[in-house]
Amino acid sequence: MHHTLHAGRWAAMLIALFTSLSFAQGSAPAESAKPIAMTFTERVQICASCHGADGNSQTNNIPSIAGQPRIFIENVLVLIREGLRSNEVMQAVTKGMSDQDIVALAKHFSALPMQSTPGEPDTALQQRGRLLASKLRCASCHEANFKGRAQMPRLAAQREEVLLTKLIAFRDKPKPGTDTIMNATLHGVKDDELKALAHFLAHVR
Ligand code: HEC
Ligand code: HEC
Repeated sequence: MHHTLHAGRWAAMLIALFTSLSFAQGSAPAESAKPIAMTFTERVQICASCHGADGNSQTNNIPSIAGQPRIFIENVLVLIREGLRSNEVMQAVTKGMSDQDIVALAKHFSALPMQSTPGEPDTALQQRGRLLASKLRCASCHEANFKGRAQMPRLAAQREEVLLTKLIAFRDKPKPGTDTIMNATLHGVKDDELKALAHFLAHVR
């Protein structure tokens, strides 16, 4: 009995999620996509379905969020919820979230340890990235060991393709709602230099 109820609840949540997703993509508007009440555990499970069970993503182009500074996670969720930062998928997820939900989720994921990137780095590329990061003073904001602080995200051990995509976007076409400081920092940095930076940062332990 309990299980049936539970499964029914999950189905309802997924339907709500996908209704708002297709809504965001511009198909026929749903009646009214009312946010449905969810428990904290249910919210965490939804995040985990994309960002990984322990906040360490196993999926291309989805960032790991474990060990990110609490304030960084809060900022991202608020900006997306308010429509100030575009992100179709996350927009649907943050819809109807209260500030308390956001604070609790940020606390939860910031407390989980970020896992090291598996595999050995290319040492030449890694060394090039290390020198560039030092020359460009990336750690002056992202902190020693690139562990992040306050609104500055942790870069250490983030997925390499996520880092590279973000670096290219910050340099070429910063999204509305992202901090302009990164655009200024990356002005004139070449593609192969961004690759070296991403490789180096992904392998920081
Ligand atoms: C359907 C998949 C999906 C779900 C569910 C989801 N996210 Fe995301 N999330 C993404 C993707 C994709 C990005 C990267 C988008 C971008 O930066 O353009 C992202 C980005 C983020 C970021 C920014 C990370 C960074 O390093 O820039 C945070 C923080 C985040 N999500 C937290 C959450 C939380 C908390 C939840 C649950 C309430 C959640 N996400 C649910 C797909 C998802
Ligand atoms: C003056 C402070 C500052 C400096 C210097 C700086 N950053 Fe950042 N960086 C930030 C802030 C703030 C953000 C968050 C931007 C946002 O999400 O709006 C950020 C975001 C990022 C992100 C996105 C991470 C994520 O998970 O979303 C990457 C990658 C990054 N920085 C790499 C670098 C690299 C590489 C350097 C050196 C070339 C650098 N940063 C120098 C402040 C700085």
